[in-house]
Amino acid sequence: MKVIICKNYDEISKEAFKVMKEYLKPGKVLGLATGSSPVGLYKEMIKDYEENGTSYKDIKTFNLDEYVGLPVDHSESYYTFMHENLFNHIDIKEENIHIPSGLGDLEEGCRAYDQMIDECPVDIQLLGIGSNGHIGFNEPGTPFELGTHVTDLKESTRKDNARFFDPLGEEVPTQACTMGLATIMKAKNILLVANGENKAKAIKGLLEGPVTIDCPASILQNHPSVTVVIDEAAGKLLEKEY
Ligand code: GLP
Repeated sequence: MKVIICKNYDEISKEAFKVMKEYLKPGKVLGLATGSSPVGLYKEMIKDYEENGTSYKDIKTFNLDEYVGLPVDHSESYYTFMHENLFNHIDIKEENIHIPSGLGDLEEGCRAYDQMIDECPVDIQLLGIGSNGHIGFNEPGTPFELGTHVTDLKESTRKDNARFFDPLGEEVPTQACTMGLATIMKAKNILLVANGENKAKAIKGLLEGPVTIDCPASILQNHPSVTVVIDEAAGKLLEKEY
C-alpha cells in the first residue's frame, strides 16, 4: 500500500485529488464515499470542473452505501449528501449515478447493485474509514466474502453519526445497505482518506495490524493497488516508516 502522510485536512484533499484526477476521464467508473473525510476532495473535484472544464458526462459513479428507511430526499440520506457535496456542482448525468437504495425490496436491490458493478467494474474506489475500522458500512465481524448486503449498524457507528441526526430530533437508522468487502475488493484501485486522532486505531489496524474481520479495513492489505492519504494525527500509532 502507498501511504501519504499530510500536515492537515486541506493537504489530504489536494493529495487525494492528484490520485483521483487520473480517473476523471470519459468511460471511467468511480466508486464514491460519504462522510466528512472525502468532502475536501469533492471540493477539489468541483474546483477542477469549474476551472479546467473536466467533464463528468461520460463518467459513471457507484456509491458505497445508504441508510435503510430514509427517503432519498431526507436531509441525511447519502443520496442527498452526494448531491449537495458533489453531483449538483458538476455535469454528471443523473442516470450515471448509482447509490444503493435503502427502500423497497432490499435483497433484490443489493443483488441488482452487485450485478451492475460486475457489468461496470469500478476503476477507483474512494473510501473513508470508521473509527472502528469499518469501510462502507462493513462493521467489525463482517465476513470478507460478502457482496452488497443489508447490515445492522454498531452502536459506536450510530454514536459517531448521531451528530447529524440529533439536531433533527431523529435517531440514526439502525441498518444500512452497503457494498460488501468482496464488492470493494473488486475495484481496480482504492483510495482511502482519513484524518484526526479518532481514526488512529483504525489506521493502525488497516496498515500494520493482522488481516482480520475485527478490523474490516485490514482486508485492503490483500489488494494490489491501494493509496492511503492521512494526516499526522490519524497516523499517530504507526510504527513503520512511510
Ligand atoms: C460512515 C460511512 C463510511 C465513512 C465513515 C467515516 O459510517 N458509512 O463510509 O467512511 O462514516 O465518516 P467520516 O469521514 O465522517 O469520519
